[in-house]
Amino acid sequence: MVNFLQGALSSLGRKYVMAVTGLLLGTFILLHAVGNSTLFQGKAALNAYAEQLHSLGPIIPLAEFFLLNIFLLHIFVGISIFWFNRQAHGRYAVQNSAGGKTWGSRTMPWTGLVILAFLFLHLLTVRFVDSNLPIADVVEQTLAYPVYTVCYLGGITALILHTSHGFWSLLQTLGVHHPRYNILMRGGTYVAVLFISLVFLGIIVLLW
Ligand code: HEM
Repeated sequence: MVNFLQGALSSLGRKYVMAVTGLLLGTFILLHAVGNSTLFQGKAALNAYAEQLHSLGPIIPLAEFFLLNIFLLHIFVGISIFWFNRQAHGRYAVQNSAGGKTWGSRTMPWTGLVILAFLFLHLLTVRFVDSNLPIADVVEQTLAYPVYTVCYLGGITALILHTSHGFWSLLQTLGVHHPRYNILMRGGTYVAVLFISLVFLGIIVLLW
Protein backbone atom coordinates (compact mmCIF):
# COMPACT_ATOMS: atom_id res chain seq x y z
CA MET A 1 0.00 0.00 0.00
CA VAL A 2 2.81 2.40 0.97
CA ASN A 3 4.65 1.47 -2.24
CA PHE A 4 1.49 2.04 -4.22
CA LEU A 5 0.99 5.49 -2.65
CA GLN A 6 4.64 6.43 -3.18
CA GLY A 7 4.36 5.32 -6.81
CA ALA A 8 1.10 7.18 -7.22
CA LEU A 9 2.70 10.36 -5.90
CA SER A 10 5.61 10.34 -8.36
CA SER A 11 4.99 12.34 -11.50
CA LEU A 12 4.95 9.28 -13.78
CA GLY A 13 2.87 7.30 -11.29
CA ARG A 14 0.27 10.07 -11.23
CA LYS A 15 0.04 10.01 -15.02
CA TYR A 16 -0.49 6.21 -14.96
CA VAL A 17 -3.17 6.49 -12.28
CA MET A 18 -4.93 9.12 -14.44
CA ALA A 19 -4.61 6.92 -17.54
CA VAL A 20 -5.89 3.70 -15.91
CA THR A 21 -8.76 5.41 -14.04
CA GLY A 22 -9.52 7.42 -17.21
CA LEU A 23 -9.69 4.18 -19.21
CA LEU A 24 -12.14 2.66 -16.72
CA LEU A 25 -14.28 5.82 -16.59
CA GLY A 26 -14.21 6.07 -20.39
CA THR A 27 -15.35 2.44 -20.62
CA PHE A 28 -18.22 3.22 -18.22
CA ILE A 29 -19.23 6.28 -20.29
CA LEU A 30 -19.20 4.27 -23.52
CA LEU A 31 -21.31 1.51 -21.91
CA HIS A 32 -23.64 4.16 -20.44
CA ALA A 33 -24.06 5.70 -23.91
CA VAL A 34 -24.76 2.25 -25.45
CA GLY A 35 -27.37 1.54 -22.73
CA ASN A 36 -28.99 4.99 -23.05
CA SER A 37 -29.12 4.67 -26.85
CA THR A 38 -32.00 2.17 -26.34
CA LEU A 39 -34.12 5.31 -25.81
CA PHE A 40 -33.97 5.88 -29.59
CA GLN A 41 -36.11 2.70 -29.89
CA GLY A 42 -38.68 4.20 -27.51
CA LYS A 43 -39.15 4.73 -23.78
CA ALA A 44 -40.18 1.09 -23.23
CA ALA A 45 -36.78 -0.05 -24.54
CA LEU A 46 -34.88 2.13 -22.02
CA ASN A 47 -37.14 0.91 -19.19
CA ALA A 48 -36.56 -2.73 -20.20
CA TYR A 49 -32.79 -2.12 -20.29
CA ALA A 50 -32.86 -0.49 -16.81
CA GLU A 51 -34.93 -3.39 -15.42
CA GLN A 52 -32.45 -5.88 -16.85
CA LEU A 53 -29.59 -3.97 -15.17
CA HIS A 54 -31.38 -3.86 -11.81
CA SER A 55 -32.12 -7.60 -12.01
CA LEU A 56 -28.35 -8.23 -11.74
CA GLY A 57 -28.78 -7.85 -7.96
CA PRO A 58 -25.70 -7.28 -5.74
CA ILE A 59 -23.40 -6.85 -8.75
CA ILE A 60 -24.86 -3.35 -9.24
CA PRO A 61 -24.05 -1.83 -5.79
CA LEU A 62 -20.60 -3.45 -6.03
CA ALA A 63 -20.01 -1.92 -9.49
CA GLU A 64 -21.28 1.46 -8.22
CA PHE A 65 -18.89 1.33 -5.26
CA PHE A 66 -16.00 0.48 -7.60
CA LEU A 67 -16.99 3.29 -9.99
CA LEU A 68 -17.24 5.82 -7.13
CA ASN A 69 -13.72 4.97 -5.97
CA ILE A 70 -12.35 5.22 -9.50
CA PHE A 71 -14.01 8.65 -9.87
CA LEU A 72 -12.56 9.83 -6.54
CA LEU A 73 -9.07 8.61 -7.44
CA HIS A 74 -9.23 10.30 -10.86
CA ILE A 75 -10.38 13.59 -9.29
CA PHE A 76 -7.92 13.47 -6.38
CA VAL A 77 -4.86 12.68 -8.53
CA GLY A 78 -6.07 15.14 -11.23
CA ILE A 79 -6.17 17.94 -8.66
CA SER A 80 -2.71 17.00 -7.35
CA ILE A 81 -1.28 17.17 -10.93
CA PHE A 82 -3.00 20.54 -11.39
CA TRP A 83 -1.37 21.99 -8.22
CA PHE A 84 1.99 20.44 -9.01
CA ASN A 85 2.02 21.94 -12.53
CA ARG A 86 0.83 25.32 -11.24
CA GLN A 87 3.65 25.47 -8.72
CA ALA A 88 6.24 24.23 -11.21
CA HIS A 89 5.22 26.37 -14.20
CA GLY A 90 2.99 29.04 -12.72
CA ARG A 91 0.03 27.73 -14.70
CA TYR A 92 -1.56 24.51 -15.83
CA ALA A 93 -0.54 23.05 -19.18
CA VAL A 94 -0.87 19.62 -20.72
CA GLN A 95 0.95 19.02 -23.95
CA ASN A 96 -0.35 16.77 -26.67
CA SER A 97 1.77 14.10 -28.35
CA ALA A 98 3.24 16.63 -30.78
CA GLY A 99 4.27 18.88 -27.89
CA GLY A 100 1.52 21.39 -28.67
CA LYS A 101 -1.56 22.37 -26.73
CA THR A 102 -5.08 21.81 -27.94
CA TRP A 103 -8.33 23.28 -26.63
CA GLY A 104 -9.10 19.94 -25.02
CA SER A 105 -5.71 19.67 -23.27
CA ARG A 106 -5.69 23.31 -22.04
CA THR A 107 -9.06 23.00 -20.39
CA MET A 108 -8.76 19.56 -18.72
CA PRO A 109 -9.05 20.73 -15.06
CA TRP A 110 -11.92 23.10 -15.83
CA THR A 111 -13.92 20.65 -17.94
CA GLY A 112 -13.26 18.08 -15.19
CA LEU A 113 -14.82 20.44 -12.62
CA VAL A 114 -17.86 21.08 -14.84
CA ILE A 115 -18.33 17.31 -15.30
CA LEU A 116 -18.15 16.84 -11.51
CA ALA A 117 -20.84 19.51 -10.95
CA PHE A 118 -22.95 17.96 -13.72
CA LEU A 119 -22.62 14.51 -12.11
CA PHE A 120 -24.03 15.77 -8.79
CA LEU A 121 -27.02 17.25 -10.62
CA HIS A 122 -27.41 14.16 -12.83
CA LEU A 123 -27.41 11.71 -9.92
CA LEU A 124 -29.84 13.90 -7.95
CA THR A 125 -32.22 14.13 -10.90
CA VAL A 126 -32.21 10.52 -12.16
CA ARG A 127 -30.54 8.22 -9.64
CA PHE A 128 -31.47 9.39 -6.14
CA VAL A 129 -34.77 10.91 -7.17
CA ASP A 130 -37.82 10.15 -5.04
CA SER A 131 -40.14 8.83 -7.77
CA ASN A 132 -42.01 5.62 -8.59
CA LEU A 133 -42.13 6.48 -12.29
CA PRO A 134 -40.33 4.31 -14.86
CA ILE A 135 -36.79 5.59 -15.49
CA ALA A 136 -37.56 6.90 -19.03
CA ASP A 137 -40.29 9.14 -17.57
CA VAL A 138 -37.89 10.37 -14.88
CA VAL A 139 -35.38 11.38 -17.59
CA GLU A 140 -38.15 12.97 -19.69
CA GLN A 141 -39.50 14.96 -16.73
CA THR A 142 -36.01 16.18 -15.81
CA LEU A 143 -35.24 17.38 -19.33
CA ALA A 144 -38.63 19.14 -19.49
CA TYR A 145 -37.12 21.88 -17.27
CA PRO A 146 -35.09 24.31 -19.47
CA VAL A 147 -32.65 24.96 -16.61
CA TYR A 148 -31.79 21.24 -16.43
CA THR A 149 -31.55 21.03 -20.22
CA VAL A 150 -28.99 23.86 -20.17
CA CYS A 151 -27.02 22.18 -17.33
CA TYR A 152 -27.07 18.84 -19.18
CA LEU A 153 -25.87 20.56 -22.38
CA GLY A 154 -23.04 22.23 -20.42
CA GLY A 155 -22.02 18.96 -18.73
CA ILE A 156 -22.04 16.98 -21.96
CA THR A 157 -20.08 19.69 -23.83
CA ALA A 158 -17.46 19.55 -21.05
CA LEU A 159 -17.41 15.74 -21.33
CA ILE A 160 -16.83 15.98 -25.10
CA LEU A 161 -13.88 18.38 -24.63
CA HIS A 162 -12.46 16.31 -21.74
CA THR A 163 -12.62 12.98 -23.58
CA SER A 164 -11.42 14.47 -26.90
CA HIS A 165 -8.04 14.98 -25.21
CA GLY A 166 -8.31 12.31 -22.50
CA PHE A 167 -8.89 9.21 -24.69
CA TRP A 168 -5.87 9.94 -26.88
CA SER A 169 -3.69 11.02 -23.97
CA LEU A 170 -4.34 7.85 -21.94
CA LEU A 171 -3.36 5.67 -24.91
CA GLN A 172 -0.07 7.59 -25.13
CA THR A 173 0.60 7.17 -21.40
CA LEU A 174 -0.17 3.46 -21.52
CA GLY A 175 2.27 3.13 -24.45
CA VAL A 176 -0.40 2.14 -26.98
CA HIS A 177 1.11 3.83 -30.01
CA HIS A 178 2.81 2.88 -33.21
CA PRO A 179 3.83 5.32 -35.99
CA ARG A 180 2.05 3.18 -38.58
CA TYR A 181 -1.26 3.00 -36.71
CA ASN A 182 -1.32 6.35 -34.89
CA ILE A 183 -3.67 7.93 -37.44
CA LEU A 184 -6.06 4.98 -37.08
CA MET A 185 -5.94 5.16 -33.28
CA ARG A 186 -6.44 8.92 -33.29
CA GLY A 187 -9.43 8.36 -35.60
CA GLY A 188 -10.73 5.66 -33.22
CA THR A 189 -10.68 8.07 -30.26
CA TYR A 190 -12.59 10.67 -32.32
CA VAL A 191 -15.18 8.03 -33.33
CA ALA A 192 -15.68 7.14 -29.64
CA VAL A 193 -16.13 10.84 -28.72
CA LEU A 194 -18.48 11.34 -31.69
CA PHE A 195 -20.57 8.34 -30.59
CA ILE A 196 -20.86 9.67 -27.01
CA SER A 197 -21.79 13.14 -28.33
CA LEU A 198 -24.42 11.81 -30.75
CA VAL A 199 -26.10 9.63 -28.10
CA PHE A 200 -26.15 12.11 -25.19
CA LEU A 201 -26.94 15.21 -27.28
CA GLY A 202 -29.37 13.14 -29.41
CA ILE A 203 -31.36 12.21 -26.27
CA ILE A 204 -31.67 15.87 -25.28
CA VAL A 205 -32.90 16.78 -28.76
CA LEU A 206 -35.26 13.76 -28.78
CA LEU A 207 -36.88 14.69 -25.47
CA TRP A 208 -37.04 18.43 -26.17
C1 HEM B 1 -28.55 12.71 -21.91
C2 HEM B 1 -27.59 12.14 -21.23
C3 HEM B 1 -27.78 11.12 -20.14
C4 HEM B 1 -28.88 10.38 -19.79
C5 HEM B 1 -30.26 10.37 -20.43
C6 HEM B 1 -28.50 9.54 -18.67
C7 HEM B 1 -29.33 8.65 -18.01
C8 HEM B 1 -29.06 8.01 -16.82
C9 HEM B 1 -29.97 7.21 -16.05
C10 HEM B 1 -31.41 6.92 -16.47
C11 HEM B 1 -29.33 6.78 -14.94
C12 HEM B 1 -29.92 5.93 -13.78
C13 HEM B 1 -29.82 4.46 -14.08
C14 HEM B 1 -30.59 3.67 -13.07
O1 HEM B 1 -30.67 4.06 -11.90
O2 HEM B 1 -31.12 2.67 -13.48
C15 HEM B 1 -28.00 7.29 -14.99
C16 HEM B 1 -27.02 7.05 -14.05
C17 HEM B 1 -25.73 7.54 -14.13
N1 HEM B 1 -25.20 8.34 -15.11
FE1 HEM B 1 -26.18 9.06 -16.71
N2 HEM B 1 -27.18 9.79 -18.36
C18 HEM B 1 -26.70 10.77 -19.23
C19 HEM B 1 -25.42 11.30 -19.26
C20 HEM B 1 -24.41 10.96 -18.39
C21 HEM B 1 -23.06 11.46 -18.47
C22 HEM B 1 -22.55 12.43 -19.52
C23 HEM B 1 -22.37 10.88 -17.43
C24 HEM B 1 -20.91 11.01 -17.05
C25 HEM B 1 -20.20 12.06 -17.22
C26 HEM B 1 -23.29 10.04 -16.70
C27 HEM B 1 -22.98 9.32 -15.57
C28 HEM B 1 -23.88 8.57 -14.83
C29 HEM B 1 -23.53 7.89 -13.59
C30 HEM B 1 -22.15 7.86 -12.92
C31 HEM B 1 -24.69 7.22 -13.16
C32 HEM B 1 -24.85 6.36 -11.92
C33 HEM B 1 -24.61 4.92 -12.29
C34 HEM B 1 -25.08 4.01 -11.20
O3 HEM B 1 -24.90 4.34 -10.02
O4 HEM B 1 -25.66 2.99 -11.52
N3 HEM B 1 -24.51 10.10 -17.32
N4 HEM B 1 -27.85 8.04 -16.14
